[in-house]
Amino acid sequence: MSDKSLKQTAQDLRNQLNTWAREYYSLDKPTVPDDVYDKKYQELVNIEHAHPELITPDSPTQRVGGQVLKGFEKINHEIPMLSLGDVFSKEELGNFVDNLDKNLDEKIDYNCELKIDGLAISLVYRKGIFVQGSTRGNGRIGEDITQNLRTIKSVPLKLSEPVDVEVRGECYMPKKSFVELNERQEKEGKQIFANARNAAAGSLRQLDSRITSDRKLSTFIYYLMEPEKFGVTTQSQALEKMRSWGFKIDPDFKVAHDKEEIFEYIDKYQEKRASLTYDIDGIVIKANPFSVHREVGNTVKVPRWAIAYKFPPDEQETIVRDIEWTVGRTGVVTPTAIMDPVQLAGTTVSRASLHNPDYIKEKDIRIGDTVKLHKAGDIIPEISMVVLSKRPNDSVPYPIPKNCPECGAKLVHLDDEVALRCINPKCPALVKESLTHFASRNAMDIRGLGTRIIAQLYDKKLVKDIADIYKLTIDELLQLDKIKEKSANNLLTAIDNSRENSLERLLFGLGIRHVGAKAAKLIAQHFKTMDRIKEASVEEICSIKTMGTIIAESIVTYFDSKEVDELLEELKKARVNMSYTGESEAEILENAANSPFNGLRVVLTGTLDHLKRADAKKWLEAHGAKVTGSVSSKTNLLIAGHDAGSKLTKAENLKIKIINEETFIQQMEEED
Ligand code: IVH
Repeated sequence: MSDKSLKQTAQDLRNQLNTWAREYYSLDKPTVPDDVYDKKYQELVNIEHAHPELITPDSPTQRVGGQVLKGFEKINHEIPMLSLGDVFSKEELGNFVDNLDKNLDEKIDYNCELKIDGLAISLVYRKGIFVQGSTRGNGRIGEDITQNLRTIKSVPLKLSEPVDVEVRGECYMPKKSFVELNERQEKEGKQIFANARNAAAGSLRQLDSRITSDRKLSTFIYYLMEPEKFGVTTQSQALEKMRSWGFKIDPDFKVAHDKEEIFEYIDKYQEKRASLTYDIDGIVIKANPFSVHREVGNTVKVPRWAIAYKFPPDEQETIVRDIEWTVGRTGVVTPTAIMDPVQLAGTTVSRASLHNPDYIKEKDIRIGDTVKLHKAGDIIPEISMVVLSKRPNDSVPYPIPKNCPECGAKLVHLDDEVALRCINPKCPALVKESLTHFASRNAMDIRGLGTRIIAQLYDKKLVKDIADIYKLTIDELLQLDKIKEKSANNLLTAIDNSRENSLERLLFGLGIRHVGAKAAKLIAQHFKTMDRIKEASVEEICSIKTMGTIIAESIVTYFDSKEVDELLEELKKARVNMSYTGESEAEILENAANSPFNGLRVVLTGTLDHLKRADAKKWLEAHGAKVTGSVSSKTNLLIAGHDAGSKLTKAENLKIKIINEETFIQQMEEED
């Protein structure tokens, strides 16, 4: 291909990819499946790799993050980034509107918007190309975070028109990303974030933009500078204009014609708040005509034409009665507060993770303390603070345990981890957890070998490691409590069948640090046999798409051990399959396309007893479904666990198909 046509091809690919990305990330209306996008993206990467001179700043390949900065440059906001005045009741809000109306000659409309709980950002475009992005800082001086903002998919690198423009908005972390990030942080023994806002702030201020890129941030833009340049005269028009350029705009804004309509909007979103996929902390009410903005102007800090109505926090007080410590599969010892049960956002809550000892110390949580409890990301119960005025006189700081609650071994902090770990490989809790993991659904999937049976097998010294599972006899199983011949036989058959599993199940089942089910599948698919994985180098593992050094190093370290060699020998002797017999990549995609879940928008709600929500979601996505956080008319299916709240009611009202967990599991089994 000549250089000229190659240049054109690259340009066409960029335009096509940017359009698809806008439809997906800004408009929430994908028009092509992910694999079509991925294929075109790879074509562009190949061209740019061979011809780096063809890379342009608006190329989607430039989002991945790159060089690590030493610090952030300061940026002057020529027009200061203002904050908002707050009100906390409808009465105060009514006064604000009345006062504004009194000072104006004509009756005006108000634009009502959600108050997104994130961080204010400013984005500058020259001739439609993204050139600079910054934080609000103190309103006058912010920080240049262009590199990081580039990695956020909803920030357009190129607008649909070649305009010179500055816009402002909010960068936030969706609830789902926040919950997943904290789960990951906790598993890896790292600091957890108190809320999505802090997580977004921490992610935006990373000097290494690859970290920001991993954190799945998003944006809503709500402010257009110099609107008169673009012929728009109201805030609602400005939002539409910015949407047409490619920015992500919160779709829930509404023009209200009077106070009553404003109050209706408030009530509606106060109700909907928990089901939104991102945190909001109130409503922003803005005079709609820009002429009013010019007329009434700003104080030093806040506009006189807008106000924030803040929601009361959804919090409950309760008393901490105990702190329970449990040892996980990786040895991390996690504290959980046990509290008097309270009703919170539709469910009864009596337990909240306290994550790690630093968390307990920082918040100074003690037994007997009255605490304020809320739901982080509207899902996970979390203690926000101790009510010191209600602390009993005889209270003492909570003593952090020094020894493992299960085996008594000394607990340690590895490297700079905040987590406490039991590193005794023979710790019963650790061994039992590893056995349970080995038998679990995504690993060897040995039905009937759950926590209860494993605890008995271990305590009766019938099983001490995973290889022993394959040596069990019917007589041994019949020694267990409440197990009859039929279920013992079923269990033996399930154990026997698991010998034939494809390699990725065994690899995941070994419980290697950082190796999740998805990584195990990619690795097994790539290397095909356990022997080849054992010999693989960090570089070889890293050559697999999406595989990073943390996973690769963890695998290499795991296999560099005599004990692991012996275990694998034992498993081989037990005739456990050590080769990949699963689907090829093409088959995986084909299966997804054939699944009845393909193309459905599915919502999961309520408490699931048998499945982890993350696993259910992964399964649905692998079968072509899109899993969303809130029920809308676009939803096709609601999977409702028990104690399902407002989402269930809404789905019933909208006549959306609803199934329970059991039916879902049945359908999963029919599919797999
Ligand atoms: S308007 C001059 N609109 O709330 C205009 N702000 O507490 C000022 N915020 O600093 C901002 N959602 O970071 C506006 N729809 C929205 C908003 C919003 C969230 C944030 C913004 C602001 C803070 C004030």
